[in-house]
Amino acid sequence: MKLTNEELKNEIQRLKEKLSVTVVAHFYQRDEVFELADITGDSLELAMRTMADDSEYVLFCGVGFMGQSVKVLSPNKRVVMPKIACCAMARMIDSLYYDDSVKFLEDNGIKKENILPITYINSNADVKAKVGEMGGMVCTSANAKKIITTALSEGKKILFVPDRCLGQNIANQMGLKSMVIGQEGDPKDADIICYDGFCSVHQLFTLDDIAFYRKKFPGILIATHPECDPAICDASDFVGSTSQLIKYITELAPEQKVAVGTEFNMVNRLRAKNTYVLSSTKPECPTMNETTLEDVYLTLKAIEEGAPINEIEVDPKTQKWAKIALERMLAL
Ligand code: 13P
Ligand code: SF4
Repeated sequence: MKLTNEELKNEIQRLKEKLSVTVVAHFYQRDEVFELADITGDSLELAMRTMADDSEYVLFCGVGFMGQSVKVLSPNKRVVMPKIACCAMARMIDSLYYDDSVKFLEDNGIKKENILPITYINSNADVKAKVGEMGGMVCTSANAKKIITTALSEGKKILFVPDRCLGQNIANQMGLKSMVIGQEGDPKDADIICYDGFCSVHQLFTLDDIAFYRKKFPGILIATHPECDPAICDASDFVGSTSQLIKYITELAPEQKVAVGTEFNMVNRLRAKNTYVLSSTKPECPTMNETTLEDVYLTLKAIEEGAPINEIEVDPKTQKWAKIALERMLAL
């Protein structure tokens, strides 16, 4: 017999008290899942805070690369995910596409030793490992500018994967030249060469949406995530990562209206603050929304029965190099 939501919540509470499990949830998770987590945050906060946690199991409610990052940083922890849902952007690149991107630069006269690769944390462990092996590092949307500044001080060309928008937005903010592989431009003229990946959710926001809100509520502010197209970020009053957006919105005066261009669940949770979703459609991340209360319950139950399901494993070589790429970021 199917349990009701109330019964599921009670069972989850009972299992959390009984087992050595820390439940972790990203801000984009459904409200009912988000509310029962012990640790919530953006991808960087979750990776760092779970490293310091001492439960035997981490039950990670998010997308695959996030659970993988926890396993890479803390290989002795057992990481299980109620749904191993793969972020659409992370799926756009694998180690072979990564090698092709390096080859593209080499074919255009840039030697491998003059390339410094940076991968957005929204990538799978195999890509992080490739980047680590080539002397590069990981960044998140919260620290991309700092990481790129450090990388440029080595005097190399930056290969930025997989999000072209984040790469271009940071380049624009810093007055650097960027180009996207497969689009017009000579990599020798660019400081940052971006892979052509993107987030389908953050591509939903349009200049028409911004014009609509500016006309409807004169004085409204527009705040967007750097995974949005550069044209959208250029037309915004504030551009920031998940945690930076939350801080910005919660610190506004109560009467200040703000339209936000990022994932629906997170924006909706801030609705009381005169906050609007910057879209005529619902910008829900389909993969983040896959995790349900029932999935969380079944994953905890499997641990109780001694047969954990959906456990994250990373092979030792990938783990070693992906960890190095992540640790280079954490050291900064
Ligand atoms: P954060 O790194 O801000 O948590 O974002 C992850 C993400 O998937 C944004 O779409
Ligand atoms: Fe990936 Fe976009 Fe979903 Fe973030 S919102 S997890 S980048 S698909």
